[in-house]
Amino acid sequence: MIPFLDLKAQYESIKDEIQAAVIVALASTQYTLGREVAAFEEEFAAYTGAAFGIAVNTGTSALHLALLAAGIGPGDEVITVSCTFVATVAAIQYTGATPVLVDVNPETLTMDVSRIEAAITERTKAILPVHLHGQPADMDPIIEISRRHGLTVIEDAAQAHGAEYKGRPVGAIGDLGCFSFYPGKNLGACGEGGMVVTNNESHAETIRMLRDWGQERKYHHVLKGFNYRMEGIQGAVLRVKLRYLDGWTEARRRHAALYNVLLAASGVKTPVEAAYARHVYHVYAIRSSVRDNLQKALNAREIQTGIHYPVPVHLQPAYADLGYGSEDLPVTEQAAAELLSLPMFPELTEAQIETVAAAVRGAADHG
Ligand SMILES: Cc1ncc(COP(=O)(O)O)c(C=O)c1O
Repeated sequence: MIPFLDLKAQYESIKDEIQAAVIVALASTQYTLGREVAAFEEEFAAYTGAAFGIAVNTGTSALHLALLAAGIGPGDEVITVSCTFVATVAAIQYTGATPVLVDVNPETLTMDVSRIEAAITERTKAILPVHLHGQPADMDPIIEISRRHGLTVIEDAAQAHGAEYKGRPVGAIGDLGCFSFYPGKNLGACGEGGMVVTNNESHAETIRMLRDWGQERKYHHVLKGFNYRMEGIQGAVLRVKLRYLDGWTEARRRHAALYNVLLAASGVKTPVEAAYARHVYHVYAIRSSVRDNLQKALNAREIQTGIHYPVPVHLQPAYADLGYGSEDLPVTEQAAAELLSLPMFPELTEAQIETVAAAVRGAADHG
């Protein structure tokens, strides 16, 4: 069987270091926040080129607090995409604001920047692009539009650790950037985790308070906050893994390049790396008009695949309240019908990639 993702292979490769770090964290008794988390905040913020990093318990919490720090609340609108994991849109609704969904670029599957201006109203407060699958959104026009209209830019970089836009790491290009350290992410905790990075000191202070009950100091609550703290053990684990991230990203990029070559004449569409981008291939998704058959054929050959995501957020029953219907976001809807994510993780071997590609070629021919 060729797995879609193999967390065990990664764990085995760095087991001794992870275990040593966990033992130190356990012995420290700093089980929530503490030294390891503070050190990880500094190291990861530096990795993204941001002045501040505030660690939280999930990527969803990172988005929620970034939005609150930007002053977003009931009556406000935030422009984002439907071609994303549900958390992006959910976090906007947590604040009481309304998500306004725009379509994506058919090549990059990130926010179609030509759609933003038409979506802006006097209630718009922020633009929230998603660096989907590890491909950065086209940030320059987004920043330019935001400056012209006085909007905050919040990057959803949950899938894009180490991705670059015109040579700059994502996360600190906009006003605030949000990362997830869910175990399957390019940088994954042994549990849940997230972080907001920013160059804005006042936003950083607000988020630091909000994640810990809005306390200025113990039992002095100046804001209505949350328990969104990162666990000490996750900080320790993530510090170890951060040292390997660049190597893992290079491996993902090599795997993507090999898939691209092997699938060039297969009839499926391979993912495009935008000219401005360093894609980090959190997901390597091909597109096919016979996606479901292709998935079945691969499954029959014991090749696991995924679909990111089969139903766009605006067509999910839980988000019917947003008032969108089918055909409102045609590029997003077509992508949901065609995308198929192939096995992608750093430890994947060339032989495994060749097996997957041969199976795709065989199945696509008989689609
Ligand atoms: C694009 C995107 N945004 C937000 C999230 C939420 O992150 P988490 O699962 O850590 O809450 C995820 C991942 O799950 C994601 O892929």
